[in-house]
Amino acid sequence: MIFGRVKPIDDILATAKKKALPRTLGALQLTLFGVGCVIGTGIFVLTSAGAQKAGPGLMLAFAIAGLICIVAALCYAEIASMLPVAGSAYTYTYSVMGEILAWTVGWALVLEYAVAASAVAVGWSGYFSGTILQETFGVQLPAFLAGGPLVLGGIEGGLINLPAVVIALLVTWLLMIGTSESAKVNAILVAIKVTALTTFIILTLPKSEMANFNPFLPAGVFGGLGSGIGAVGAAATIFFAYVGFDAVSTAAEETKNPQRNVPIGLIGSLLICTIFYILVAAGAVGTIGGQPIMGPNGIPFPAGSEELARQCAMAEHSAKLVCSNEALAHVLREIGFGTIGNMLGYAAFIALPSVILILLFGQTRIFFVMARDGLLPESLSKIHPKWGTPYVVTAITGAVVAFAAAFLPVGQLADIANAGTLYAFMMVAIAVMLLRKRDPNRERSFKTPMLWFVGPATIIGCVFLFLNLPFEAMIVLPAWAAIGMVIYFLYGYSRSHVGKGIVEVHSLDDDAPHRPVDGGPVV
Ligand code: ALA
Repeated sequence: MIFGRVKPIDDILATAKKKALPRTLGALQLTLFGVGCVIGTGIFVLTSAGAQKAGPGLMLAFAIAGLICIVAALCYAEIASMLPVAGSAYTYTYSVMGEILAWTVGWALVLEYAVAASAVAVGWSGYFSGTILQETFGVQLPAFLAGGPLVLGGIEGGLINLPAVVIALLVTWLLMIGTSESAKVNAILVAIKVTALTTFIILTLPKSEMANFNPFLPAGVFGGLGSGIGAVGAAATIFFAYVGFDAVSTAAEETKNPQRNVPIGLIGSLLICTIFYILVAAGAVGTIGGQPIMGPNGIPFPAGSEELARQCAMAEHSAKLVCSNEALAHVLREIGFGTIGNMLGYAAFIALPSVILILLFGQTRIFFVMARDGLLPESLSKIHPKWGTPYVVTAITGAVVAFAAAFLPVGQLADIANAGTLYAFMMVAIAVMLLRKRDPNRERSFKTPMLWFVGPATIIGCVFLFLNLPFEAMIVLPAWAAIGMVIYFLYGYSRSHVGKGIVEVHSLDDDAPHRPVDGGPVV
């Protein structure tokens, strides 16, 4: 029975015990780490796509997505405190629901990490082309190098997104040679992002006008399943702005007093981001307006579509929020703060690559653990003798990330990443509930409060957001899962270490790649 291939929790815990990482992280550091992982392309760029889907209802969308992430985070906190080991949702699923489902989760996490890294690279590219090249040096990148064939913002004649490819490859190279971001650098980048968003809020909110919020829900709350519009359609897209917080949950083992500090770190970082996001959305919409560009049938043109790109190329629409590739800098320029708008652009330019680094690292770590379990070729997890990094898997992942970033628009990449992430979150909620039933007496340093409400709420929330993604993004998950299943049965099924009855205890995890953030948690 393939569902019977379960990795025993005691073996996992034996590994964790041997690892015995020093408990150095406090609540503040964890919260900072969370904010560092989370704030990125979602708020700096996807605000445009969100407004095109929901108009001013974007604020409601941030609240809905934030709430679903908070209940998911409560589930992560419990299981991370029980199983503080590498591999995150993949390992949790392996120990509770068995190998085949764990494989599907690990496979879906490729979407969460690798595709999300592509999305952030494309987001960064918008700020690079706009703020750095155009505003600072007065240089306009030829259209065929500035974006893929379909890019939000009216770039017609796009072919390849060269800046996105370059940044993805550069970050891959940094990871390959073993670059780690010190806790200090992380703190500085968080400060830069928070300062940029705070300045944005302070400058825009006083200039906001009530009229700009009317109509508040031009595309309604529900745009219809698979349509990707309306407030919940926007929530399904800007859910991306919260992706990455799960990295905090993997820090349980390195945290002082994890029972108190892991939930504070998880919920704290999410609450901070939710409040920032809603206020930023209010400032953006309140000043320059955020009404979608409607198609002839009164339904917003799909974000990232060719039709929208054509509309945005027209003079009457080009200055609209929904047409900008660098939403927040654009808003500030439009309301007369050109220099500060550029400074916000520099902040995104400096800080977004670290989000790519964290996501890419997360991906290589998951692949590494899957290869160590025998489900992927061992050669993938080969460590470079000098750099000490899993350079093979990093290089392959980086190449794929760069390829996706070259051709696809940021909104579609984010939607695809969200589909995989929502699946992983749902499986974590199921795993937590199953473990409570099956193994109620095992020590949990943190217990999800009201689990029988929070767990189902997470599952329902994830399914609900998934169903409100655009159909093209939704369909990627089952298609991707089908490819994964073929690979599993052709390769992993017969080579799985658990299947062969090999029990492994990795002392110190010293064969694992080292962390991207020194003094920060293992992803
Ligand atoms: N939440 C991260 C971002 O918005 C992935 O860039």
